[in-house]
Amino acid sequence: MRRIRMRLAAALLLLPLTAAALLCGCRDASERDAVKIGVSVYKGDDTFISAMMESFLAAAAQFEQETGVRVNISVADAGESQKTQNEQIERFLSLDYDVLCVNLVDRTDAGSIIDRARDADVPVVFFNREPVQEDMLKWDKILYVDSDARESATLEAQIVIDRYNEDPRSIDANGDGIIQYVMLEGERRHQDAIIRTEVSVETLKEAGFLVEKLDGGIANWNRDQAAALTETYLTAYGDKLELIICNNDDMALGAADAVAWLGLDFSNIVGIDGTEKGLAAVREGKMLGTVVMDLPAHARAIFESAYAFATGADPADALEVREDRSVRIPMYIEARKPVE
Ligand code: GAL
Repeated sequence: MRRIRMRLAAALLLLPLTAAALLCGCRDASERDAVKIGVSVYKGDDTFISAMMESFLAAAAQFEQETGVRVNISVADAGESQKTQNEQIERFLSLDYDVLCVNLVDRTDAGSIIDRARDADVPVVFFNREPVQEDMLKWDKILYVDSDARESATLEAQIVIDRYNEDPRSIDANGDGIIQYVMLEGERRHQDAIIRTEVSVETLKEAGFLVEKLDGGIANWNRDQAAALTETYLTAYGDKLELIICNNDDMALGAADAVAWLGLDFSNIVGIDGTEKGLAAVREGKMLGTVVMDLPAHARAIFESAYAFATGADPADALEVREDRSVRIPMYIEARKPVE
């Protein structure tokens, strides 16, 4: 299989791929010369999103190889500007792309993109940054692919619960019967940040734990911002701090960086994503655990929905589409093994 490594730094990349495999329920693909898929991501150097794009291109390349259908994919980096993303969408539409895959910059701002796409009759697969329900109901040729934020937070809390059950003192180090924690949050209006922050703690409480939030802050999914915040927390709270809950792995890695700077022995840090570096940190004992998003499954679902739409088929023929027009990808826990 041809493997394509990509850098999303460039404003617009044109990546013609050649592949095969398939997805049932679609119009005879051989009738088509090539399927054109325009992708716009909110921020090309986001660790999780760039890994997802790599998987997406690999899925398309495999499809080309297996079916002989040509797939032209163009990936644009919106650089965190909704205005830039809207321009990229306009450009795809003017170039007669068959389908759009959009990782919104501002998830509350999908309305105008949907209107423009509907006018041009070009379906849209949104992913990772969830449009509000009102926008999702605007048209039937749109779909949202992601994992379930509640489930990711429940599993993140489960990592802590499992560890506590194996060895209570490894979590409640001071033995006061309360877990003292800090929370590192992603972007303010991102559905994952909001839900993960709330549900992780809710799950601990429902499992019968007493918890005390010592502090917390927004680190925007970012490793450096998380490291800076964690350094202040570790300095302020010292041994009192028993757990660092992070909305994603990059922030968990930042927390681990701060631990290393201060020369501390502390690794009760949990994250979500299952990035390569996150998983390595779990293996190396720098993090307690992470919730692994199945990136190849995300990528396949986005590609299969896009291809189905592009060929006039219904993605629901190949994928399990929920009533709210979403496709949800399962995930699993990867946790540090207890010390014997
Ligand atoms: C989250 C992910 C973060 C970040 C964000 C971008 O689902 O956990 O690491 O990639 O999406 O929208």
